[in-house]
Amino acid sequence: MHSPAANQTGGPSVPVSLGRLDGLVSLASNVRANIIDTGFSVDAMARSFSAKGLTLDDLVTLSGGHTIGSAHCTTFGERFRVDANGSTVPADTAMNADYAGELIRACSAVNNTVSSTAAVDCDEGSASRFDNAYFANLLAGRGLLRTDAVLVQNATTRATVEAFARSEGSFFAGWAASFARLTSLGVKTGADGEVRRTCSRVNG
Ligand code: HEM
Repeated sequence: MHSPAANQTGGPSVPVSLGRLDGLVSLASNVRANIIDTGFSVDAMARSFSAKGLTLDDLVTLSGGHTIGSAHCTTFGERFRVDANGSTVPADTAMNADYAGELIRACSAVNNTVSSTAAVDCDEGSASRFDNAYFANLLAGRGLLRTDAVLVQNATTRATVEAFARSEGSFFAGWAASFARLTSLGVKTGADGEVRRTCSRVNG
């Protein structure tokens, strides 16, 4: 079986194993500790990835998933602050000024609060194409989420971003390897799992 989403939008074809079982526990309280918040630093993301056996290179590579799709304005509100004059300005001076203006326009609701329904492409210019433009955008100060933008502020992750921006082939090869690792984390077999009848709850 091949992972379809990346492939159907122009990305690499990645073989994935079939038949993994769902877990026997389904608790909302288990989720938060296992996912990265958009406010995380590179170091905090590296710790989360490392706890799952994934590297800093995997972090940069898999963040490239943001080459497709969009994010709601509420998920990157932290990229902006209100200055002494009451104007909304980027919290991070490395954000491209034109890009900041575009985001502010796209997200401003009528009453001047951040729109909760509006969404913006994660990879401006080619959000429906799985390509390496996401990495060039990061280098140009056009990363959307805070967790995307910080990848160019750490020397190690920046070097990988630069390599992927130069070579789409190296991003695609890295993606295939990292995605395969991602899909093989914590695989449950035999009595450790089940096939759920409803995805969000255990059979019982
Ligand atoms: C590194 C930590 C990550 C964080 C903090 C993060 C966060 C987010 C957030 C906040 C959104 C917007 C959701 C919304 O507003 O509806 C998003 C969208 C998305 N993310 Fe991530 N993400 C991360 C890693 C990944 C990875 C590893 C992949 C793929 C392997 C991925 C693929 C996507 C895709 C495809 C979308 C667009 C979804 C859509 O258009 O409906 N993300 N992510």
